[in-house]
Amino acid sequence: MQRITITIDDDLMEQLDHMIEHRGYKNRSEAIRDLARAGMKEDLIEANKLTDCVGVLSYVYEHEARDLAKRLTSTHHDHHDMTIASMHVHLDQGYCLEVSLLRGEVKAIKEFSDAIISQRAVAHGDLSIIPTS
Ligand code: NI
Repeated sequence: MQRITITIDDDLMEQLDHMIEHRGYKNRSEAIRDLARAGMKEDLIEANKLTDCVGVLSYVYEHEARDLAKRLTSTHHDHHDMTIASMHVHLDQGYCLEVSLLRGEVKAIKEFSDAIISQRAVAHGDLSIIPTS
């Protein structure tokens, strides 16, 4: 572990301390390490340097929307080799929540996720990418 000294202006430090308290970090160092990891992950993805990952895809959909459930199932079957596990929760009378754990190339996982999230009557779609390399 290395010790570094950084300079941060007062306003930013105040905001950072609020976040640290809000999220329950024990100290500034752990919060800044997490922010650095998040930034580096974004950079790897943008620069196409991150090849393999685990993806957590979550979304909510109206299960009675015309043919949607069928189309979503077909999309999952088309990408069956990427799926590690899926969880389905019947949220209420009309809506379902699905969480799928995916593994594979970042590009392919993004395409799969976009194909799901862009469907009409799919809401709150989100893909979280975790680097594995
Ligand atoms: Ni359901």
